[in-house]
Amino acid sequence: MSQAPRKISILGSTGSVGTSTVKVLQAQSEPYNVQVLTANSNVTLLAEQAKMLNASHAVIADAALYDDLKSILSGTNIKVSAGETALHEAAAIPADWIMAAIVGMAGLKPLMIALEQGTTVAIANKEPLVAAGELVLKTAAGHGATILPIDSEHNAVFQVFERTNKEAIERIILTASGGPFRTKLLAALRDVTPDQALAHPNWSMGDKISIDSATMMNKALEVIEAHYLFDLPASQIDVLVHPQSIIHSMVEYHDGSILAQMGAADMCTPITNALGWPKRLKTPGKKLDFKTMNRFDFEPVDDQKFPAVQTAYACLKSGQAACIAMNAANEAAVAAFLNHKIAFLDIHAYVSEGLKIDMPSTLSSLDDIVAFDNFVRAQVESCMMNSSSSSIMKS
Ligand SMILES: NC(=O)c1ccc[n+]([C@@H]2O[C@H](COP(=O)([O-])OP(=O)(O)OC[C@H]3O[C@@H](n4cnc5c(N)ncnc54)[C@H](OP(=O)(O)O)[C@@H]3O)[C@@H](O)[C@H]2O)c1
Repeated sequence: MSQAPRKISILGSTGSVGTSTVKVLQAQSEPYNVQVLTANSNVTLLAEQAKMLNASHAVIADAALYDDLKSILSGTNIKVSAGETALHEAAAIPADWIMAAIVGMAGLKPLMIALEQGTTVAIANKEPLVAAGELVLKTAAGHGATILPIDSEHNAVFQVFERTNKEAIERIILTASGGPFRTKLLAALRDVTPDQALAHPNWSMGDKISIDSATMMNKALEVIEAHYLFDLPASQIDVLVHPQSIIHSMVEYHDGSILAQMGAADMCTPITNALGWPKRLKTPGKKLDFKTMNRFDFEPVDDQKFPAVQTAYACLKSGQAACIAMNAANEAAVAAFLNHKIAFLDIHAYVSEGLKIDMPSTLSSLDDIVAFDNFVRAQVESCMMNSSSSSIMKS
């Protein structure tokens, strides 16, 4: 008996992960019913995707863009809605597989609502895991939801992690490309521009994660993400720079065996893996060609140049409030850097400012987490406004 087509939703369909997810879906022979597609402000692409995939709902988070979206989709059967509440309602529309690909903490509530459906949720949106990992996992477990990691590193670990043999695991090794400034001297980082920081050598990604890769805050966030996803202490999570981005991460076992997952630097692979799991589907993305590869390099993280990774380990030791503060301060600082308001090296300096805030001892509810996240952002933004120099590193 043939099965009914799976119902699919993509939260953040117009972004880098979102568009790769659309590409993966379009390449499949199996039919899918696309339920919900969401965006923040990119009405044109959202409408185009909704028509192309014959989606049931298109939701734009910016309420002011409702009329624009409605007008482009007039004459179709696609239901249009706009605003934050509409986004939350969209995440609650029943689906068998939901991609969580909104960027930053804006994705936290939609993610929680998606998990409350007790369905399969593929999580690219790492910031909610960093700030609210325990609550995210508790919600998934409480509603019987399955979480599938999309971050290439965590998807790699997921593929080679023997869940039924966890006591045999020595450590996981998250690989990092080192970003566009791996070989630059620290002094040369003072004057780098957003355009230079956005030019990642291996991956094509959204602006926020590209800047996080340049500061290596991306790897910092991933250490905390891995702690929650694989239930491992910081002492069993290592980071290793691997500039070619071929090995996406590894698991080392006590017997000395190291299992690695390899692939092209193309998000289509982890997305296809999660869409097919536990089966394996065909990727429309790039494949590795070993004949054109001549070397695998590895080196430790330069903690002086990229202090973010050590900051993440310190935050994990300190507790959830510090993880929220690190993430919130970083989101505020990255936005300011992209708007040419602060310098590149200021980003981590403002993360350190955020970590000086008094940390609350309990943050059990979603509201508590969101309130503390907002408080840290406001403090860091006010610190930026009050800074007399454009660069606090210079003061
Ligand atoms: N890109 C990658 O290769 C990659 C790899 C691993 C993990 N991730 C993680 O996946 C997430 C998405 O990354 P990305 O690179 O795909 O980001 P992106 O290209 O910036 O796309 C973000 C998506 O979220 C939407 N969005 C932004 N702000 C929103 C808001 N306030 N409310 C609702 N929707 C909002 C955007 O809509 P508009 O297009 O309308 O702005 C877009 O659809 C991030 O957490 C990132 O760390 C990304």
